[in-house]
Amino acid sequence: MHEVSPLLDQVATTITAAIGRARPELAGADPVVSRSEHADFQANAALALAKRVGAAPRELAAEVRDAMVASLIDETALSGPGFLNLTLSDSSVWHQISARLASPRLGIGTPELGRRTVVDYSAPNIAKEMHVGHLRTTIIGDCLARLLGFLGAEVVRQNHLGDWGTQFGMLIQYLDEHPSTESTLDDTYRAARAEFESDEAFADRSRARVVALQSGDADTVARWREIVAVSEKAFRVIYDRLGVLLTPEDSVGESFYNPLLAETVEALREAGIAVESEGALVVFSTEVTGPDGNPVPLMLRKRDGGYGYDTTDLATIRYRIHDLAADRLLYVTDSRQALHFRLIFEAARRAGWLTGGIEAAHVPYGTVLGSDGRPFKTRAGGTVRLMDLLDDAVARARAVVAEKNPERAPAELDRIAEQAGIGAVKYADLSTSRLRDYTFDVDRMVALTGNTGVYLQYAHARIRSILRNAGDTEPVVDASVPLTPPERTLALELDAYASTLVDVGTTLEPHRLCGYLYALARAFTTFYEACPVLKAAEPTRTNRLALCRLTARTLEHGLGLLGIAAPERL
Ligand code: ARG
Repeated sequence: MHEVSPLLDQVATTITAAIGRARPELAGADPVVSRSEHADFQANAALALAKRVGAAPRELAAEVRDAMVASLIDETALSGPGFLNLTLSDSSVWHQISARLASPRLGIGTPELGRRTVVDYSAPNIAKEMHVGHLRTTIIGDCLARLLGFLGAEVVRQNHLGDWGTQFGMLIQYLDEHPSTESTLDDTYRAARAEFESDEAFADRSRARVVALQSGDADTVARWREIVAVSEKAFRVIYDRLGVLLTPEDSVGESFYNPLLAETVEALREAGIAVESEGALVVFSTEVTGPDGNPVPLMLRKRDGGYGYDTTDLATIRYRIHDLAADRLLYVTDSRQALHFRLIFEAARRAGWLTGGIEAAHVPYGTVLGSDGRPFKTRAGGTVRLMDLLDDAVARARAVVAEKNPERAPAELDRIAEQAGIGAVKYADLSTSRLRDYTFDVDRMVALTGNTGVYLQYAHARIRSILRNAGDTEPVVDASVPLTPPERTLALELDAYASTLVDVGTTLEPHRLCGYLYALARAFTTFYEACPVLKAAEPTRTNRLALCRLTARTLEHGLGLLGIAAPERL
């Protein structure tokens, strides 16, 4: 694999070396390099470093400039209070473009190599339908799994299904007593819940059924398995439609940890952090206090001897560290679970499971809102089924795509509408900064303009069409051709893809990748409006085709990491 170091990094290394030559006591200093409005890059280090050597910033900047030796930087201009404006040689920019084009990975390295990363995402609850609340975890988690995997991490996807608990006793009992029920599991669940709440005798029979399930009664366990299978099949339909990576092997639900709960509690007791409180066994936080000023507890074992969500997550983190040998644990759930995970991580640290070299992080996200600014609900006030929401987005995307290109065959239109509609929903979710709430607005999502998935798919398809018209051969760049400003902006933007991915791998914020792809598509538009490609004379034509090709590949690749299709035609 051939890694191509981003120009920004190369420039930074060059400036750091010059700083060290000018002032040995500053060796290794951060050169504070960024993109510049006045040149390709600028280095602002002198402003921060001048004090350390008792010089004026402008003076230090001049010393650094004079200490520079021949490199990819062609021109260094001192400006303002001590900025260095840096312009690269044209040939170094072209070389960078051809090096990235020559690499199947676009020259991107594998900074996550050797890191075993567990991504816990999606995790819907068995016997309930997937609803809008599961959209974000599924889409964000899947994007992170793809991106970290591409950067070299060994990703272990975990779908922590809610497949265990007292509600199954109720459901199984209800199904037994109403054998001819034709309705969906979701409706059955609701009916069972209503009966449980209104009929004391049924509630008692349900509780007895929970005991039967937990003690492994063959009949009851078989019924439970059936329910899980039916639900998982329904989830799979949604996963397939969304095009997420989750497979049946990734389903490691709450029931999996059931046999591990007792020993987990025992281990916490031995570690001396589990204490009795009002008949229950709990872990009190040493970091977080509740509104009453008392330490917040994690519930290990309820007074009735039952285990719950907290206990399961303690068993889960222990398993992921000890058995899965994870270096990094990510939990993609909504922000309301922040305290839960904080307490779980604290307990795991105190128990000695979560040690220094292992990173555990909750990856929280905001709420999906309806047009009224409140959590998204159906008009009747119910939860929005994920399937309905996807159908709606695809139907609207179909209208948009059909209008743009009316004479397409219906079958092709269906296929494209599906890719555009699903892509639009995913992109709208991923492009919002993760912690913010966002309004689910289908018309805006499928718009052809603005920062949308459909806009990026169009941008990509348009470039593919240019490449088809050019005969789509692998262009050989002539590095001696001077770059015009729009070519230069596009080329530098293309080169920044590598740094963007590394940044998203660290911050776990996919919206940064969306923002990058949008900026790239716009840089391409500016370039294409100013620079004819097919009609240009050689060698300009070939060089411009190289920029087109790298843009198309970068857009396609970036959309791929977001889990969004990049069709050749739209
Ligand atoms: N099933 C849970 C829910 O619907 C999410 C589980 C998240 N993962 C975990 N390890 N707790 O809220």
